[in-house]
Amino acid sequence: MIGKKMEEMLNKRMNSEFYNSNLYLAMAAWFEAQNLPGLAHWMEVQAGEERGHAMRFYNHIKERRGTIMLSGVPAVPVKYKSPLHAFEEAFNHEVEVSADINKAAEAAGAEKDFATAIMLQWFVTQQVEEEASTAAIVQQLRMAGDSKGGLMQIDHHLGKRKAG
Ligand code: FEO
Repeated sequence: MIGKKMEEMLNKRMNSEFYNSNLYLAMAAWFEAQNLPGLAHWMEVQAGEERGHAMRFYNHIKERRGTIMLSGVPAVPVKYKSPLHAFEEAFNHEVEVSADINKAAEAAGAEKDFATAIMLQWFVTQQVEEEASTAAIVQQLRMAGDSKGGLMQIDHHLGKRKAG
């Protein structure tokens, strides 16, 4: 059985992961509208992964016989100044997610909820990857600058991302 404090924290994280999924799906739609199908594909895959993250929280709460509390997901931004701006926003968002995951991991330790602490370890590692991947794309887009050819190359490369 999960304690009330962790139940609340994990429900909040579950809802945040659904928000992340919508955030990246909206970015995918924006990239599509800019004729950048590779960047759109990368974000669509990411949106799918974020839904998977939400379901990890859902399953953990359910298996610990907690109550699932789905709240309304706030509206996400739909416009960006440039591809670089979108990926900078994605990177900044992932840094915030990492801080929130760390807080939850700290609370799980303090509550001696070892099952949740172990479940959250996956997320701690995952966040290292999520920050690194978005930071790398920010760097590539910065290097491309105003070069249309550079942007096309990045688009082609990111279009190869495999789901899962
Ligand atoms: Fe599930 Fe990108 O944080």
